[in-house]
Amino acid sequence: MQIFRTIETMHGASRAYYQHGQRVGFVPTMGALHEGHLSLVRAAKAHCDVVTASIFVNPTQFGPAEDFSKYPRTFDRDCELLQKEGVSLVFAPTVEEMYPPGAVTFVTVEGLGEKLCGKSRPGHFRGVTTVVSKLFHIVGPETAFFGQKDAAQVAILRRMVRDLNIPVEIAVCPIVREADGLAMSSRNAYLDAQQRKAALVLYRSLQEAQALFGQGCRAVDRFIQDAKTVFAQEPSVRLDYFEIVDPETLEPLEKIDSPSLVAVAAYVGPARLIDNVVLG
Ligand code: PAJ
Repeated sequence: MQIFRTIETMHGASRAYYQHGQRVGFVPTMGALHEGHLSLVRAAKAHCDVVTASIFVNPTQFGPAEDFSKYPRTFDRDCELLQKEGVSLVFAPTVEEMYPPGAVTFVTVEGLGEKLCGKSRPGHFRGVTTVVSKLFHIVGPETAFFGQKDAAQVAILRRMVRDLNIPVEIAVCPIVREADGLAMSSRNAYLDAQQRKAALVLYRSLQEAQALFGQGCRAVDRFIQDAKTVFAQEPSVRLDYFEIVDPETLEPLEKIDSPSLVAVAAYVGPARLIDNVVLG
């Protein structure tokens, strides 16, 4: 497994594979890898000839009061895991390499970038779309793999790729969960035992929504009321949003009459966690 620190060497290696007709699959990450990330690597392995992963904690997608500096960094362990999964290339640039002094160009997906997490994390999606478009240019993959865990991120990146004619296919993999249902996240590492238990309220609220849908309920108001009741039973957790939206436009819906994204975000101790399910 080769590890690249510079854009030039990463780009050169990718081009060599491309010129030999190899299909490059790409898995962008911020490291602190878990089974969710590894599921993307496995999907990339299954669909492509060569897998490139990136590990870069991207400062532009963190707000000034957010967890950029304390985000878990476990580089050596991450590399071991990636090597075991058969990843060929790892791109792990420094912040200065990705954002040299004077870098002032950003990619913004207007409208969508202010929905869901974009509301409580202003500028977050602008950071994501900027770094992912840079990574796409540097790695030049045929297919890039993302998790449904970050459903809004997927919708926004799909729109960016379409609007900017970036020649990459976006593949989306299902949410990987812990045995008790908690969606895997690098930020779960922030939770103590009590918070870890309380964090299950996100999953419970989505299960409740699934049950309600199963009973024939379609009115979004009712789903939101129920979710609030579920969260009220876990007062240590502060709900950020529980929304039911169109999976492509992220516009709030009133009725569930086509596939709908039920997305939740909440603060559990020091962590802000998200989860979702698609109904219909
Ligand atoms: P990160 O949070 O490290 O996630 C990297 C990829 O792993 C994303 O596509 C995310 O959706 C996926 N992932 C995370 N947890 C998952 C789970 N439990 N099940 C399935 N997939 C999961 O998302 C980012 O990094 C960044 O925004 C990035 C795209 C790398 C840009 O900086």
